[in-house]
Amino acid sequence: MAVYRVAVIPGDGIGPEVIEEGIRVLSAAGEHFGFGLEWEHFPWGCGYYLQTGHVMPPDGLSILHDFDAIYLGAVGLPGQVPEEVGVRDLVLAIRFGFEQFANVRPVRPLPGAPFPLKHVQPQEVDFVVVREATECLYVGLGGRYQPGDRQFEAVRHLRPTFARSREIALQTGVYSEAGCRRVMQYAFVLACQRGGRRLVSSATKTNAMAFGMKLWDDIFAEVAAAYPDVGAEWQNVDAMAMRFVTEPQRFDVVVAGNIFGDILTDLAAALVGGLGFAPGANYSLTGPSMFEPPHGSAPDIAGRGCANPVAAILSGAMLLRHLGEGEAAAAVEEAVARVVAGGQTRTPDAGGTGTTAQVGSAVVAALRRSGGHWGTRDAD
Ligand code: IPM
Ligand code: MG
Repeated sequence: MAVYRVAVIPGDGIGPEVIEEGIRVLSAAGEHFGFGLEWEHFPWGCGYYLQTGHVMPPDGLSILHDFDAIYLGAVGLPGQVPEEVGVRDLVLAIRFGFEQFANVRPVRPLPGAPFPLKHVQPQEVDFVVVREATECLYVGLGGRYQPGDRQFEAVRHLRPTFARSREIALQTGVYSEAGCRRVMQYAFVLACQRGGRRLVSSATKTNAMAFGMKLWDDIFAEVAAAYPDVGAEWQNVDAMAMRFVTEPQRFDVVVAGNIFGDILTDLAAALVGGLGFAPGANYSLTGPSMFEPPHGSAPDIAGRGCANPVAAILSGAMLLRHLGEGEAAAAVEEAVARVVAGGQTRTPDAGGTGTTAQVGSAVVAALRRSGGHWGTRDAD
C-alpha cells in the first residue's frame, strides 16, 4: 500500500479549522481507495511567532523538504503580527524556497454554490488561472529612501511629488526569461491536458509597463509558437478583469504574473461562490508542492466553527491528484459537489447555518455513500 507523508501547517485563524476537515476527508478517501496518509503537523505561523519570534524555525525548509506534499491552512494575525511578517517568512518563503512557480487556481463553479452573474450559467464557466508565484513585485527588492540617498536622488527629477517628498519607496518587479517560459509552458501543457477549448490567455500590461511585460509578451509569443494546436491570446489585465465578469465562459487557461494573478484569482473566487469555495495549489518541479486555499486566516470568524472548509477540501483533492491518486481526488470533488448541490449543509458564507465540521462530515458521508462509482475528470 502506498503511504504518503504530508506536512501540515494549519496556521492561524480559521486555518486549523478548515484543515482539520480536509484531513478527515482525505483520510477517508485514503481508506476507501487503499492508500495511507501520514500527517505530520507543524504549529508554525503567527501564533508561533508570538511565542518564538519566528514564524517557522530557521531550518523549516529543510524540515519540509522530504515530504511528499505540504498542506497549508492560512497565515496571519492582523493587529498582533505585522502583515508582512507571517506571509513573507512562511508562505512566500516556502513558495520561493521550493520554486513553487505554478500557482494553480481552478475556477469551476459548483452547482448550488452562490453564483453572482445573471447573464451566464455557472456550468458554462470552467477555467484555470496559472499564476507565476516566485517573481514580479513579490521578489522583495526595494527599500525606503530619503533625500540624499542615492536611490532617492536617482529618481527625484521624474515627478514633482518625488522632489518634494520626505521619503520615497521603491518596490522592484523582476521578471526572468526562464521564469516566464517555465510558467507559460506549464499553462500550455495544462491546456492540452484539459482538452477543453485549448486556449491560453496571457494577462499583460505592456502599454504601461514596457520592460517587464514586454519580456513577458515576447516569451509568451515564443512559447505559444511551440504549441500550434493550442490557441494563444493576450489581454491587458484590466480588460481581462472586466471579462472575468462579462464573459468568463470564454476562458480556458489564463497565465498571469504574480501580482496580476493574485488580484485576478480573488476576482475569480467570486465566480465560484467566494473564497470559501476557491481551491489552490503551488506546484514545484524540484521540491514538494504546497496545497493551500487562497483565502486568508479570517480572524473575525475564527474559533466560531463556521468557516467554509470547501476550499481547503478541494485544495486537498488537488493534493491527492498530485500524489497520483487521481481517482480518489475525483471522488472527493464529487462528494463536495454533491454536498454543495444538496444544499442542506452549508456554512453562513453560502447562506446556510451549518458548521465547518458539519460540512466536513457531510463530505465524508457522501464519499462513503458513493460506493465505488467514481467518475474521472480532467487534470487541474
Ligand atoms: C494568495 C495570498 C498571498 C499572495 C498573500 C498571503 C501573500 O493573497 O495566496 O493569493 O499574495 O500570494
Ligand atoms: Mg491573494
